[in-house]
Amino acid sequence: MPTPVFPSDFIWGTATSAFQIEGATHEGGRGESIWDRFCHTPGRIANGDTADVACDHFHRFRKDVALLADLGIPAYRFSIAWPRILPTGRDPINPQGLDFYGRLVDELLEHGITPWPTLYHWDLPQTLQDQGGWPNRDTAEAFLDYVDLVTRTLGDRVKHWFTHNEPWCVAMMGYARGEHAPGLQDGSAALAAAHHVLLSHGASVPIIRANCPGADVGIVLNLTPAYPASDSEPDRQAAQRFDGGFNRWFLDPLFGRGYPADMVEAYHQRGWLPEGSLPFIHPGDLDTIAVPCDFLAINYYTRAMVRSGSEMENGGEPATLPPPVDSEQTDMGWEVYPEGLHDLLLRVHQDYRPARLLIAENGCSYSDSAEPDGRIRDERRIRYLHDHLAQAHRAITQGVPLQGYFAWSLLDNFEWQFGNSQRFGLVAVDPTTGHRQPKDSAAWFRQQAASPQHPPP
Ligand code: GCO
Repeated sequence: MPTPVFPSDFIWGTATSAFQIEGATHEGGRGESIWDRFCHTPGRIANGDTADVACDHFHRFRKDVALLADLGIPAYRFSIAWPRILPTGRDPINPQGLDFYGRLVDELLEHGITPWPTLYHWDLPQTLQDQGGWPNRDTAEAFLDYVDLVTRTLGDRVKHWFTHNEPWCVAMMGYARGEHAPGLQDGSAALAAAHHVLLSHGASVPIIRANCPGADVGIVLNLTPAYPASDSEPDRQAAQRFDGGFNRWFLDPLFGRGYPADMVEAYHQRGWLPEGSLPFIHPGDLDTIAVPCDFLAINYYTRAMVRSGSEMENGGEPATLPPPVDSEQTDMGWEVYPEGLHDLLLRVHQDYRPARLLIAENGCSYSDSAEPDGRIRDERRIRYLHDHLAQAHRAITQGVPLQGYFAWSLLDNFEWQFGNSQRFGLVAVDPTTGHRQPKDSAAWFRQQAASPQHPPP
């Protein structure tokens, strides 16, 4: 039997996001973002950490690009911070912010690395939040002006664009659960936020295409496959509802099906929607959202095991079970379940038929320190990446048009409400000195990208 090989045009990349690595939150004319405000609100972030410095990437970006080049991973997903470009979310423009990303892009291209920017990875300008944030439809309008400006400026050099990262997190973590900035707990606002994020995605795609002919454009969803805790009908229904809130609420409108009726009813029951209506939808919105894209990108970390009855404990939302006791878990407490990636890819391909699929994030938090010889032997991360790539490969052999994989993350970085306590990087970053050191997984990933047969030699 020949050794299975990833397609020769398979895209191998690493990923980061602006707020998690840049630091320099008060430099270069940058405005305040909702995450700055959130981090400086006592009690919001583990250990009172902030991202004021983060990985100091704003100052070290040339070295980081050199590091990427050394690692030999040909694609790089990063995000552009809206408040660096438009400090209050709208005009006036901060030219220093545009310059920064222009220089980053040039540096990447000079090193032969393909830039894959994300236009929104959660750092909304605080001024826009003060005017209502994502629940306010005007924020979607402001996003379009921001996208127009960025893609007009960088569109000659950047050919691949992710619009939004994880609308579920933006809406639900930010506006319903309050665990992310801006920290609100209002289900109706969260549903309006989700709609405006999707709307702004759909409306931005033609703008990107106009400014950047031949652009490759798509959105990133964090999809979580839901498995019923047992074969019982109630558990199956609970899993179906979890899937509805987490996955279908976003997939269905993006693929032209509107919002799923079972979830419209469930959200009405929960008091988040009036009976039988979605008050935030204006005529034409659903067509705008369903704009055809070049790809759908997925972030996958773990699965959800769902049992019925748990809604009572969880504000109407089906709760997930803790991972099985005998399962392996990352430092986030997330079950390592590579088969979930295969199941998810197959399901999305079969149910929605996106033109292409990408994995925009997959990775794990493990704290491994340097051993006496100086090496960081993060073998659990290598196994995690290996096993997930194996499942991705399996999906490809079954006909899924998966075209790339971005490992989360290039660097140990600021992990949102967990601060610096969770280490996802292929490269270790000392939070005090900023010193970078590639872990063993970086070398392993490089080798996998360079000789993409599977399993790796
Ligand atoms: C995401 C987040 C990343 C996280 C990662 C690990 O897109 O989910 O964008 O920023 O760091 O998911 O939790």
